[in-house]
Amino acid sequence: MLKKSVEDAINAQVNAELWSAYLYLSMSMNFAAQGRNGIANWFKVQFQEEQAHAEIFMNYLNSRGARVVLQPIDAVEIEWATPLDAFKATLAHEQKVTALINDIYALAESEKDYATREMLNWFISEQVEEEESAQELIDKFTLIGDNGMGIYMLDQELAARTYTAPSPLATAE
Ligand code: FEO
Repeated sequence: MLKKSVEDAINAQVNAELWSAYLYLSMSMNFAAQGRNGIANWFKVQFQEEQAHAEIFMNYLNSRGARVVLQPIDAVEIEWATPLDAFKATLAHEQKVTALINDIYALAESEKDYATREMLNWFISEQVEEEESAQELIDKFTLIGDNGMGIYMLDQELAARTYTAPSPLATAE
């Protein structure tokens, strides 16, 4: 049985993950509209990953006999002028998500809820990767600057990103 405080925090995180999905879908549509299909693809995969994160949390609530409560998803921005702007916003957002995950981890510890703490370990590692990949793309787009050919090549590179289900979902099936 989950403590109510932990259940509420995980439900809030489900909402935060779905908001993240919405944010990256909006970024994807922004770059699709600009004809940057590779960047649009990168954010579309990011959108899929965030949906998967929400699903992992929902599966966990179900497995502990807790109720999933889906809350309204707030509106997101719709315009980013450059890829660099979007990847900077991505890093800032992921840093916020990391703080949210850390807060739930601290709550689980204080409640002596070791199962929740264990489940969160995957997210702790995932957030390191999320921040790292956003930072790498900030570095690349900063290096390229206004170089049209450079942006074109990087857009092509990002077209290759594909979605694979994260391991907690792969093993749950
Ligand atoms: Fe669900 Fe990008 O963290």
